[in-house]
Amino acid sequence: MPVKHPSPGDLEPIESASADELQALQLQRLQWTLQHAYANVPHYRQSFDAHGLHPSDCRMLADLARFPLTAKADLRDNYPFGMFAVPREQISRIHASSGTTGKPTVVGYTARDIDTWSHLMARSIRASGGRAGDIVHVAYGYGLFTGGLGAHYGAERLGCTVVPMSGGQTDKQVQLIEDFRPDIIMVTPSYMQVICEEFRRQGKDPRAMSIRVGIFGAEPWTDAMRRDIEHSADLDAVDIYGLSEVMGPGVANECIETKDGPVVWEDHFYPEIIDPQTGAVLPEGSEGELVFTTLTKEALPVVRYRTRDLTRLLPPTARSMRRMGKIVGRSDDMLIIRGVNLFPTQIEELVLAQGRLSGQYQLVLTREGPLDAVTVRCELTPLHAGSDRAAIAAELQQRIKTLIGVSTRVDVGLPDSIERTLVGKARRVIDQRAL
Ligand code: DLL
Repeated sequence: MPVKHPSPGDLEPIESASADELQALQLQRLQWTLQHAYANVPHYRQSFDAHGLHPSDCRMLADLARFPLTAKADLRDNYPFGMFAVPREQISRIHASSGTTGKPTVVGYTARDIDTWSHLMARSIRASGGRAGDIVHVAYGYGLFTGGLGAHYGAERLGCTVVPMSGGQTDKQVQLIEDFRPDIIMVTPSYMQVICEEFRRQGKDPRAMSIRVGIFGAEPWTDAMRRDIEHSADLDAVDIYGLSEVMGPGVANECIETKDGPVVWEDHFYPEIIDPQTGAVLPEGSEGELVFTTLTKEALPVVRYRTRDLTRLLPPTARSMRRMGKIVGRSDDMLIIRGVNLFPTQIEELVLAQGRLSGQYQLVLTREGPLDAVTVRCELTPLHAGSDRAAIAAELQQRIKTLIGVSTRVDVGLPDSIERTLVGKARRVIDQRAL
């Protein structure tokens, strides 16, 4: 793989600071955040008061665990601007994440928040191997979604040439990639696969693309998917994580030299892992729900925000800050099939391991009497269009049963038979139970 290592001289001092230095900064910023939230957001004042807590009770980082958790419902209940900690006139931008039902979750930024976000996105792109002068093709959606504009401002801040392509129009994506010869692409991993397919459909080899790094995120993806994309497009695939409520993309980003999980930019976001059932903080290294407290955000400070994302915190490697493991899935996305927990990413690994199947898959949920049933829909790659579909289906079904413990039906379709998501996040689960 064509890895271009960043030289250590590129790092900001905090990226290689000692644990003591980092923690001192975190504590100082945490105390500011608690005070800021308490003084300016009625929700936090009420919930701290109800727990008998005052910001001054946070004397060390571990004291944060005594403070109440915040959930998406708290943002919804204060729709649209009730969680903002600054007067509306100081909000310079709004983004929103589309809920599946009801009202979107609204987030706001002061000019300084946008500046911090741009800085952290520039840091993320640099960790991914990007440098000033690179051409960055942004195929995350622009608009209320934080992906497009977040990537855009970060790439500009780093001194790159930005191509604000946004999502969709796959043939045009291919044309611009061929004509402008970008060094970096920022896009969801599932849409990157669609772009590679479009190259092949046009009789072109995606490996001949100029792109050397892909910065992929906004949806769960496995190491199997990483290998698939790296092989298809001959690039380094790096993981970027974030969520609107905490900032947007760039809360954590993987380093190209290690590719061992996104580094949490802990000088701006303090992570904890809790037991999703009890809310208790779990020991370092345990798998559980990721919770973030922002340390520098002005417009929308969040205190112990429950992401619903399941993962673990890992010790620092390439930077002084902790990493997060791959997101196994969101606790909301977990399916319980005949008593067995199932995440779509577990299926993704087995589908891609098969070798003759493309990375496109869907889980269709139906009701069979009192029980839920799941059908795994996948498809052959064009290269293996003539393979025995029934035999592959039987083999995959067996592997799912053996390795995950769930009985499924497996349908192997012809190449291109599964609908692609061209804009936004891949839709992996189709729930037909209520139909
Ligand atoms: O997806 C922000 C983003 C944009 C991140 C572009 C990365 C790149 P939301 O729409 O609020 O924000 O969705 C946040 O997406 O809680 C995770 O469940 C999921 N997610 C984001 N990045 C990753 C990732 C953006 N690298 C939700 N791996 C989060 C797995 C991810 N899941």
